[in-house]
Parts: sequence; structure tokens; C-alpha cells
Amino acid sequence: MSRIQDAISRRRTFAIISHPDAGKTTLTEKLLLYGGAIQLAGAVKARGERRRARSDWMKVEKERGISVTSSVMTFDYGDCTFNLLDTPGHEDFSEDTYRTLTAVDSAVMVLDSAKGIEGQTRKLFEVCRMRDVPIVTFVNKLDREGMDPFELLDQVEQELQLEVTPGSWPIGMGKTFRGSYDLLNEQLMLMHRDPARDKERKTEGLVCEGLDDPKIDQFLDESQAGQLREEVEMARGLCAEFDRPSYLEGNLTPVYFGSALNNFGVQTLLDALVDMAPPPRPQPTKERQVEPSEEKVTGFVFKIQANMDPKHRDRLAFIRLCSGEFERGMKLHHPRSGKALNMHNPVLFLAQDRELAEQAFAGDIIGMPNHGNLHIGDALTEGEDLHFTGIPSFAPELLQRVRADDPMRAKHLGRALSQLAEEGAALILKTRLSSDWIVGVAGALQFEVLADRIRTEYNIPVHFESTPFNTARWIDAEDPKELKAFETRNDLQVADDHHDLPVYLAKSAWQLTCAEQDWPQVRFMKTREQIQ
Ligand code: G4P
Repeated sequence: MSRIQDAISRRRTFAIISHPDAGKTTLTEKLLLYGGAIQLAGAVKARGERRRARSDWMKVEKERGISVTSSVMTFDYGDCTFNLLDTPGHEDFSEDTYRTLTAVDSAVMVLDSAKGIEGQTRKLFEVCRMRDVPIVTFVNKLDREGMDPFELLDQVEQELQLEVTPGSWPIGMGKTFRGSYDLLNEQLMLMHRDPARDKERKTEGLVCEGLDDPKIDQFLDESQAGQLREEVEMARGLCAEFDRPSYLEGNLTPVYFGSALNNFGVQTLLDALVDMAPPPRPQPTKERQVEPSEEKVTGFVFKIQANMDPKHRDRLAFIRLCSGEFERGMKLHHPRSGKALNMHNPVLFLAQDRELAEQAFAGDIIGMPNHGNLHIGDALTEGEDLHFTGIPSFAPELLQRVRADDPMRAKHLGRALSQLAEEGAALILKTRLSSDWIVGVAGALQFEVLADRIRTEYNIPVHFESTPFNTARWIDAEDPKELKAFETRNDLQVADDHHDLPVYLAKSAWQLTCAEQDWPQVRFMKTREQIQ
């Protein structure tokens, strides 16, 4: 096996999708514990707590160090190098949260065992489905009373139209939670409620010869052992068997039960990711498919983090490598501008701290400081003109009108907004009739972030005002006349994005449905490919 092939076969690049409070931060912390990055584990936790204190937000943003470092966390476990990409939730939910999922090869879906599938999980799941991202499910908080495991599996199957197969089966719940039975490796895993054991990092499994193994009766009382045998038999009868191709296609999810807080089930989850999660996948471009084992370096920008130092207006572009062996100092071709970029200060995200990247492979993420010349969706190559596809913009769910406090600065505001739009920070729309600037975001706090950035980076104080619009869709039609007719009829509700693509602004979901029914020739799109 070549060096490159060996390196990529050991890469696992993934994200955690969950609803706030399901336990993503706690699980991340425990995953890092196994990867030996204990120091940062504390930092992640601290950040989780501070994140909730809304008034502290700006302060947190100023301390970009932590927030940037934990955007990507790299750690080793088993024979694998894991790249865990953060999907910001809570108030800092943004389009980046969605787009991060375009840079991963698989995802872990964390569910709170008492709540099952919640709103944000569903939204993020939809993005995974668009790209057939394989998902492992972790049902968390088994140390509390929650839903019946059968009910939970049924919910995942019905609501997400995703086949389920239990990877482990819980023994008891809440106060009676003892551990789980690992169905794929036939092991009994028992939980120790002693937090001091956290440090040992290991949960030893008791290898069994199937469920009839009398060893099980030594550790569980009669009723728990009986219940376990009965339930596992039922689950095996009801659920599909684990089938790796089906998981890799995103049609089946293995489900694990545990408690991140008690560090239970985390190792089983990691072992499952080592065994079944895919190494870097080939990536589609307009021109051809890029194989991760190709010798030449390619990558694409999926996220821009700005304002790291407001005085310098520098931005960090997060690049997902798709092939080759990247080395610090190499020059890469930037097809959009046709220029060569010198990669002398790339940043690699080792969990302990940000480090200068010396070397990286497909699946790895590198950060490139730049002054705004890299945009979301941009490709970097060793000379070939490639354009990666499947890095969409997502229709925003919150829309507000933005105005400069000083009307004389309105023209400058337009320029600032178009720069922010190019960077991918928000969707910026200009209404056709009133020429108002409308800003669309995925999470409410993004309005504050934008107002703060426009004020500090462009020196334009602005304020946001509510609009009657509640949802946006890019519109298109086979027949241009049909599109024109729709736009004319709805001229008060049509705007253009920064690429001059038409967008329909609906006042309610109901109005959107009516428009879709009344105009069957018009396509209403929730996502749009990046235009480079
Ligand atoms: P998030 O990142 O998905 O938003 O969730 P986070 O890990 O911050 O967890 C949300 C809350 O759930 C936290 O409690 C956390 O301690 C708790 N939690 C996480 N995993 C488990 C688990 O396995 N069992 C139980 N019982 N609780 C769990 P909190 O009180 O909101 O915060 P904290 O004061 O503990 O930090």
C-alpha cells in the first residue's frame, strides 16, 4: 500500500449531529479523552457552558482561540486518525453548521433517550441525507429514565425513513441502568458508576459465547438477564441485520446506547467508527470525480471564520483536502482567480492546540489565513481547473431587513454586505421593487454577529428590522417566460441574491405551498450550488 493509501485508509472525518442539550459537548469531551487530548476536553466543556451564557457571547468570540481550535478536532484512536468537525448549535447555529456536513465522510447522530428525534437533529439529518452521509446513532443519557428502546428505534425508522439495527442493547434504564450488550461483538459491557474510572479510559467488555452464555448470569440478576435475552431476541427478529454497504449508502444506521456523562458506551462507539465508518470518499467535481488516493493535492473551502483579529480583517478558510499529500510551503492553484496561492502558514487542528500543518492527507482539514480571497466552495489544486460540486447554500430560515443607522452610508453598506455574502456569512438579498437589503440566516444570533462585524470591520452602524417574510426559495424554470410571469405576478416578493439569482420570499409555509401548487412549472429550491 502506498503512503497515501495507508494514510487515507486510517482517516475518519466526521461530525456529530444533534439537538442542543442531547449531549454533543459531553460526548466530544469523552471522545477526546480516548484520543488523549484531555486538556482540550476541559476547554470544550468550558465553552459549552459559556456558550449558553448569551451575554458572554461577544467575549467568547473575541477569544477566538478556543472557538477556532474546536471547529476541528483531530485525535488518534486505535489505528485511526479522527477529524471531528464541530457543527455549532445553540445560539450560534448558522449556515456553517449545515455546510460542515459537506466536508465529512460520516456522522454520529446523538439522541437524548428521553426526547428522541428533535427539530435540529431532523434538519441536520436532511442535509446528511442529501449527500448520503452514513450515520451511526448514539442514544445518550441511558442513566436517566427515557423512551423504551423499541419505541426509539421505531421513531428513527419512521420519522427519518432510515433502517435501524441495534449495535448494542441497553440493560435497564435510569437507576437500574447496568450497561449494554454489544450485539456485533457479543460482549457484555457493564457500567461503573465511579467517575474516577474515567481516567482509566477503558470499559472492559466481557466476551460471551452468545446470549445464552452463563457468564451473563453471574453479572446480572435473573430478571435483568431474562429481559436482556428476550429483548435482544425480539430486536434481532424485528430489525435488519447490520449490512455495511447499506450503512455506507446512508440507508441504515447502527444504534448504540450509552451515557456520555458516565463515559459509558463511548469506547464501543469509537470502535464501531474504526471498524465501519468510511475513510475519505471520492469527491465530485464538475469536470470529474476526484479519488482520495490521487497523488496531486486537491481540496475545497467549506467554511470561513472571520474576524479573528478585527484590526487585520484576516479570515481563516477551512479547507477539506480531497486527495494527495499536502505539505507546508507548497503553492496551490486557485481556479476561481487563476492565481497561485502560497500555503506557508497552514493550520492543522491537533486537539491540544492549533499547530502549523507540515503534512496532511485527504480527509484532513487545514486552515489557511487569508484576506478575503478565498470563498466558500473554492477549489485548490496543483494546477488543474476543478470545480467541486455538492457544496450548497441553504435557504435561510430567518429573514430581516438591514439598514444603516446613517442613510448616507447606505452605499457602503451594500459593499460590506456583498463581501459578507461572498464569504458565505449570510444570504444577502435585494428586493426588486423596494431595493431593500434583506439578510437571511439560519440561527438568530447571526444577526448580532453580522451587525457587530459590519460595525467593527466596515465602520457602518446598522440595525435590523423585521420583515413579513418567513421563508426563502431560489426559483427557476425550464421556460424563462414562465419564470418571468411568476416574478411579475409576485414582484413584491421577489429579490436577487449576490449572484443576481432570483429568490422568492414567502410570508408563510402555507403561502409557499400555494405558490408551488399554482406554479407547477417553477422550481422552488431550498439549496443552491455555490457559483464559483
Ligand atoms: P449539547 O452539547 O448537545 O448541547 O449537550 P451537553 O453535552 O452540553 O449536555 C447537555 C446537558 O446534558 C448537560 O447538563 C450534560 O451534563 C447533560 N448530559 C450529557 N450527557 C449525559 C448523560 O449521559 N447523562 C445525563 N444524565 N446527563 C447528560 P447541564 O446540567 O445542562 O450542564 P452541566 O452543568 O452538567 O454542564
